[in-house]
Amino acid sequence: MKENIATVRREFETDIQQAKSVQAIENLHVKYLGKKGPIQQMMKVLREVTPEERPEVGKWINDLKVEFTNRLDSTLQTLLHQEENAKLLEEKIDVTLPGRRRFIGRKHILTHVMDEVIDILIGMGFSVQYGPDIDSDYYNYEALNFPPDHPARDMQDTFYINANVLLRTHTSNIQARVMEQNKPPIRIIAPGKVYRNEAISARSHVFFHQVEALYINKGVTFADLLKALDIFLNKLFGFEIEKRYRPSYFPFVEPGLEVDIRCLVCAGHGCPICKHTGWLEVAGAGMVHPEVLKNGDIDPEEYSGYAWGLGIDRLVMIKYHIPDIRVFTQNDLRFLSQFPSA
Ligand code: PHE
Repeated sequence: MKENIATVRREFETDIQQAKSVQAIENLHVKYLGKKGPIQQMMKVLREVTPEERPEVGKWINDLKVEFTNRLDSTLQTLLHQEENAKLLEEKIDVTLPGRRRFIGRKHILTHVMDEVIDILIGMGFSVQYGPDIDSDYYNYEALNFPPDHPARDMQDTFYINANVLLRTHTSNIQARVMEQNKPPIRIIAPGKVYRNEAISARSHVFFHQVEALYINKGVTFADLLKALDIFLNKLFGFEIEKRYRPSYFPFVEPGLEVDIRCLVCAGHGCPICKHTGWLEVAGAGMVHPEVLKNGDIDPEEYSGYAWGLGIDRLVMIKYHIPDIRVFTQNDLRFLSQFPSA
């Protein structure tokens, strides 16, 4: 029996050395301590041992059983521990790694400046109206005193959808609409996109942004127009920016003018953005033409008004020293993320 125990112990020793997994330990448990295992076998043999020897032999077998149980148990613990460590190692988080950068969306710089313009003009008593981007020839042209074959239509290369429907070439398409729907005093602005079939270049695009302003009341004068433009532009730039008013022609105003501001990119010395003139045209303006008032059911004998159309894209280019209008629509984050986020 003693020999038998030694053999089983040796065998167990080899087996347990090779057991590298929890499953292998469980298998050994069955193999050595199970019903068909050597310990049970020895228990059977014990019955045949003489009563005198039985306590001693019984103790040997029992000791072996306790020994195997303990060994299996402690090996199992070690393996479990190792497995857990391996798992932890695998799931290790390096808290010193730099965090993943989150990109926070922001307003497009054009929207940002449009909102600034709108805020200032609301502060000056204007309310906001929106006209349609797709409009009829009537509101974009005819109501604004452009007869069908008027050469001034060529000033604005039009995208026609059909003979009567077009993409508005200016936000002035709001004018007759607002007049039809409201009685003076009218004091509105209309921000939006406008479209012109022009060659795309650093200075011009097929769509850009305008903010129209329209004020109609009794006794509105040219001086009111100039003063309002003056106050507005100073507020927008935050200082008294130098301006220049040039006579110009638009069929829907009389008199008409164009508004220039000093080029801030070159401080008036001349650069490609201002075409080396030192000035930048930012708006068309004028006193609302009597014919347009009539088209809007307003009596020109009783009322007068002014209007202006401010180009936003050029203004933003000047304010932020952007040399190419095309970057506004290229969606390059390197460009877009340079501007204020609010
Ligand atoms: N609608 C004109 C343009 O786009 C600008 C303008 C608006 C001129 C209002 C006079 C009055 O060129």
